[in-house]
Amino acid sequence: MLLERTDLPLHLLRRGKVRDVYELDADSVILVATDRVSAFDVVMREPIPHKGVILTQLTAWWLRRLESVVRHHMLSTDIEVILERAPYLARFREILARRTMLCRRTTVFPVECVIRGYISGSAWKESSVSGTLAGERLPPGLRESDRLSEPIFSPATKAEEGHDENISISRMQSLVGEEETAELERLTRAVYAHGLATAHDRGIIVADTKLEFGLIGEGFDPSRVILVDEVLTPDSSRFWPADKFEPGRPQPSFDKQPLRDYLDGERKAGRWNGEDPAPPLPREVVDATSERYLDIYRRLTLSPLDTGADK
Ligand SMILES: Nc1ncnc2c1ncn2[C@@H]1O[C@H](COP(=O)(O)OP(=O)(O)O)[C@@H](O)[C@H]1O
Ligand SMILES: [Mg+2]
Repeated sequence: MLLERTDLPLHLLRRGKVRDVYELDADSVILVATDRVSAFDVVMREPIPHKGVILTQLTAWWLRRLESVVRHHMLSTDIEVILERAPYLARFREILARRTMLCRRTTVFPVECVIRGYISGSAWKESSVSGTLAGERLPPGLRESDRLSEPIFSPATKAEEGHDENISISRMQSLVGEEETAELERLTRAVYAHGLATAHDRGIIVADTKLEFGLIGEGFDPSRVILVDEVLTPDSSRFWPADKFEPGRPQPSFDKQPLRDYLDGERKAGRWNGEDPAPPLPREVVDATSERYLDIYRRLTLSPLDTGADK
């Protein structure tokens, strides 16, 4: 089943680019990953088959593996458990199954915890112009896509609209606090190290990734900081096929390359100005994108996605 958006009889906390977030009760939320896809910060009109299920199942897969590394927000992705908690959602069973995560409710820290093991995207742009990343000096002679000798923690603010903005560590400290910054950096490094090693064994480079953390309860206490949102998915990370890795140029990405290439073509042909609304996507582009998401799921988890009723 393809899903563009949900309208559940619950208080909607947020409709993000991809997820619809509802309050279930004072302590829990449900995150519904729709099949929406965004590229260049614009949400496409066409949903991508299986994408929502893939994002939720992949996040669940990582969170189970990360249990010894970090506390997290996942309570369940089992639709029966969710419906037991919220019987009035029974008529949405088909829509919600496998794409919905019941989560502990937190106050999310207002920073994206980005960590980069390779230099790409906005970090490459900044470093090629000024030799810095979020104001910090980088070693000279870096080429695009080069591996960094040590991963760099480069937080960003969460923009309501458009691009997130890279910020310095001291800016993050003034936004969320010093102790908090240190703890979020520590956890981000630990999650990334685990993700990098796991994906590496499967022929995938995690060039960078973006994590979000939340706090349970009032007042800072490191034991109540937990990992929230999506984790190490193609939407939150840059995944590169290791066998095609060649620094000195941009790398083909696993997931949205067909989509980005198509949109670039439309832009160059003068048919799209790069802003909302996106141009309509041909069937082949939608299907190729869906295939990419399925492929990355398979490669990471070493098993095909159970597409269930999602066919
Ligand atoms: N456990 C949680 N408690 C509260 N909010 C959460 C939790 N997990 C994720 N969120 C929030 O849910 C939203 C997920 O929607 P998403 O589509 O990813 O949004 P965005 O367009 O901002 O990336 C984010 O704003 C995220 O901060
Ligand atoms: Mg998000």
